[in-house]
Order: sequence, then structure tokens, then C-alpha cells
Amino acid sequence: MTLIIGHRGAAGTYPENTMLSFQGAHQAGANGIELDVQMTKDGELVVIHDETVDRTTNGSGYVKDLTLKQLSHLDACYTFKQYSKKTPIPTLEEVLNWASQLQDSFVVNIEFKNGIIQYPHLEQKTIELIHKYNMQKSVIISSFNHYSLVTCKQIDAEIETAILYMEGLYKPWDYAKTVGAKGLHPHYYAVNSFILNEARLNSLDVRPFTVNDEEVMKNLVNDGCAAFITDFPEKAVNINKEE
Ligand code: G3P
Ligand code: MG
Repeated sequence: MTLIIGHRGAAGTYPENTMLSFQGAHQAGANGIELDVQMTKDGELVVIHDETVDRTTNGSGYVKDLTLKQLSHLDACYTFKQYSKKTPIPTLEEVLNWASQLQDSFVVNIEFKNGIIQYPHLEQKTIELIHKYNMQKSVIISSFNHYSLVTCKQIDAEIETAILYMEGLYKPWDYAKTVGAKGLHPHYYAVNSFILNEARLNSLDVRPFTVNDEEVMKNLVNDGCAAFITDFPEKAVNINKEE
């Protein structure tokens, strides 16, 4: 069975990386969510894709230059005019607290956005929160920064990690093992039956992103892909039932 992971929640329908979006993905029947983490000036972990707040909120500036209090005044759904109520940028803690209360081991894929800015103690702080909410079995940490994934494994050898990558990485199943990752999170262009088969033989789960095309979804389900990450979990859940 292919698991459906909602990208930034259900970003095709709701304002990305908000509680509205995460709840929407869950209600649509997704098996989990993917979210992006940055760090505030005062060291708090917040769920937002970009290094700055400019694109997704009514504020401006780098997340790293704003305190949590300053961020809390911003509206993360101001581009969605159908929502009259303000929706804040969630903290990672808020999302983990919510997810920890759901049934059926709802997956939370935490993507570290530390490719451009190196946030101090990001790995340690995240792992502490995962333990606080007893989410060790349901969390997958991914990043394009693979050094950071190694740091996670040094802090907690049991934590599950996955490498994010864009294109034709050579034998990603071999490489993933060198960083201690159990999952491959490639751009979906970088996936084919051969890659899926080799990954399976090497006991690695492949979870491509961001799969919004129905034909691609169907092919992944029929190829027995472990999971995929989509902006449209509702559509993906239906395809999963049909195939
Ligand atoms: O984690 C999968 C995907 O979210 C990676 O790209 O830019 O959407 O965070 P991006
Ligand atoms: Mg992401």
C-alpha cells in the first residue's frame, strides 16, 4: 500500500504549512504530512518554507531576524482571500502536539530548511521535541543538507532520516547508507521502476515529491512505491483506492 503524504499539508487547497493545511490533509485521508522548518531569531522552530516571510505572509524579512513574538503577528494565509480569519505561522511544537493525538501513526515528515542558512542546534532542538511528544516512530527527518541528517543520527541513532535530492543521483541506495538514511525522497523525475526495485532490494523506502499528476500517481501506486508527497492528498487517496 502506497502512503499519501500531504506536501506542506494540502498546499494545493489550503495556505501551505498552516494548521488549516495540515488538518485539511488529515481530513482528506492522507497518511501523513510534510512540512518545512526554519528557526527564529530567538531560536524557536517554526513551520515555513522560505528563509523569508515575504511570499507566504503579510510581513517581510528573514525568519532568522524575527522573534517568535514578531512572527506571531503575521498572517500566513493572507493570499487566500476566502479565509477571513488570520492564520499564524505554526511552531513545530504545535504541529507535533496536534499530530501526536491522531490515530494510526500519522506520519510527520520534517524537512529541515538548512541548505542556505545553518541554524544552530536545529537537529538537537527538533529531536528533543520529537521525544517530548513521543513521535519517534512517526517522524521522518529529511533535508537537502545531508550533513544535517548525519548529525541527527549522531544525536539519536533511532531517528528515521531520508535524503532529499533532485536528479540522477548514482546508486542512491548505496549513498543513502553512507549517511544512515532509510529513505529516498527524490524529485519524481528521478524515479523509475529500476530505482524503485533497487531501493526495495536495499530495504529503502522511496517517497518522491511533489506528485500532483494523476498518471504519475497511478504509476507509483502500481509500482508499489512506499509513499509519495503531494499537494493534493484527496486526489491521491482516491487513486490509491481505485488502483
Ligand atoms: O520534502 C519534499 C519537498 O517539500 C522538497 O521541496 O521546496 O517543496 O520543500 P520543497
Ligand atoms: Mg518541503
